[in-house]
Amino acid sequence: MAGRVDALYFFLLALSTFFSLLIAGLIVFYAIRYRRRDPLSVGVVLHGMMALEIGWTVIPFIISMVIFVWGASVFFAISRPPDETLNIYVVGKQWMWKFQHLDGQREINELHVPVGRPVKLIMTSEDVIHDVFVPAFRVKADVIPGRYTNLWFQPTKPGRYHLFCAEYCGTRHSGMTGEVIVMEPSEFQAWLSGGVQGGSMADAGQKLFVDLACNTCHRPDSLARGPNLEGLFGKQVQLADGRTVVVDESYLRESILNPNAKTVAGFQPIMPTFQGLVTEEQLLELIEYVKSLSALPQVQTR
Ligand code: CUA
Repeated sequence: MAGRVDALYFFLLALSTFFSLLIAGLIVFYAIRYRRRDPLSVGVVLHGMMALEIGWTVIPFIISMVIFVWGASVFFAISRPPDETLNIYVVGKQWMWKFQHLDGQREINELHVPVGRPVKLIMTSEDVIHDVFVPAFRVKADVIPGRYTNLWFQPTKPGRYHLFCAEYCGTRHSGMTGEVIVMEPSEFQAWLSGGVQGGSMADAGQKLFVDLACNTCHRPDSLARGPNLEGLFGKQVQLADGRTVVVDESYLRESILNPNAKTVAGFQPIMPTFQGLVTEEQLLELIEYVKSLSALPQVQTR
């Protein structure tokens, strides 16, 4: 995004410079050109000038519309991740960044990504509002407790880039920094496969699903007391109160922590809450497990 953001920024800068110089120049020029030469001279009465009035209304209107349309197109490009992305989960907490790759690889204050692939961060916070900011990529997004926000970028050059927290979050906010390490795809693969203990996030989620006994109710057979989760992610479901909801990360999260908020039609609101029983990371693992059950094509990490 850096090129597009910079182009717009420098356009605005050039535009401001041009008009500042034009206005300041005209003030000086007219002050000298029409200065009072004789203490008894009287100014001429002006009756307005239609062409000038229309000109200085229409021209700024066109310029501001150019800025609006250009800015909106950059904004949409930044806010809409492409369909195929490398997904990485982010949990912010006072005062560190925790990253987890789908393969299970975890890191703190360092984020390794491959060059040339769109990366989507799915982010939440354990405590207060934080904000991921990678100045070199020109991207920034709030990380909010209780919900998932996204940020995407496509690194174009290998290297190490600063990562900052851009939302005041307490005493050591200024120390809540890190690095994005952009690697060649082959190096990234080597990094990813080195040092992974345990399985992927989905595997960890599956284990948790059994440990928490979720599978006693969410099952594909007739003993099911909760919705079958297979192929559910990304689908629309009908709720008991008649509304419909798309099964996304936020809905899964809410259904684990506050199950009776949006009960699926045909089921009793009998699921207990898991608030306080699962950490943010475990929630993400459960979500990743449910995603892995989906019939939708899943984006692979390799
Ligand atoms: Cu986290 Cu500022």
